[in-house]
Amino acid sequence: MRVKVPATTANLGPGFDTLGMALELYNIVELTALPQGELVVEIEGEGISNIPRDDSNIVIKIIRQVYAKAKMQPCGFKLKLINHIPVARGLGSSAAALVGGAVAANELCGNVLTDQEVLELVTTFEGHPDNVAPALFGGVVVSAEVQNAQGSEVVSRKIPPPYGLKALVAIPDFHLATKKARSVLPRQVPFEDALFNLSRVSMVIMAFVHNDWELLGKVMDDRLHQPYREELIPGMKDVFAAAYDAGAIAAVLSGAGPTLIAFARENTEDIARAMKEAFERHGVKATIQELKPS
Ligand code: HSE
Repeated sequence: MRVKVPATTANLGPGFDTLGMALELYNIVELTALPQGELVVEIEGEGISNIPRDDSNIVIKIIRQVYAKAKMQPCGFKLKLINHIPVARGLGSSAAALVGGAVAANELCGNVLTDQEVLELVTTFEGHPDNVAPALFGGVVVSAEVQNAQGSEVVSRKIPPPYGLKALVAIPDFHLATKKARSVLPRQVPFEDALFNLSRVSMVIMAFVHNDWELLGKVMDDRLHQPYREELIPGMKDVFAAAYDAGAIAAVLSGAGPTLIAFARENTEDIARAMKEAFERHGVKATIQELKPS
């Protein structure tokens, strides 16, 4: 079974833990069931030396969870991960790995689980749905965990990939663990900051629904996470300013960072150069990639 899963950029500015967009950069997960309990894990790609090849591998864990939920007999596996999404950079590499493993395992089980069950299983593992949902469904996805009579469920709605919008990702050459990027967030925020984000995230969704890039440029701003994470990403504000000066529609932190992402319809070469140079002024080497929404 071979599954292709996109990178994702979560938050999209004010949509902390609720908005995400799939990008045209993919990891491949290949999974074969082995009759005996043997486990073979092969990994290709950059930054993979610390990824475990045994039962502690998160993809193996989610595969076993899918088998258990589908009430299938436990067995061995040959798992091959071909990674193109950089690890721990804010582009959803762990969500992609988990979604790929879960979808491949579900296929081997005869697709016993629904997409909704896969979404919820992986979200429970990942902790929040904003990378998981677009990795599974593609496009821009709005998702939330809500309470129900059984406990909780993930509700999500997909907006088709925006047409004509390009993403420029500036990927610094250092890792930032999501756990660390979440540890700097406050327990409480001022009421006016909550209101600021509430009004803007509503408008960001409207902008994506209507492909209204003028609106997007006015509202893609955040007060819930970006200001607190700035200390972890040297030059963040300058890179945003450089992207805007070069003609970007909007520039935000991609997920928990450290990747910064700018959205544009034109001038993409100028924006890419400006972001790279702004990072360099702060001693950060960054790779810039132009990606389309997927
Ligand atoms: N919404 C998450 C965060 C995405 O910003 O922490 C990273 O997994």
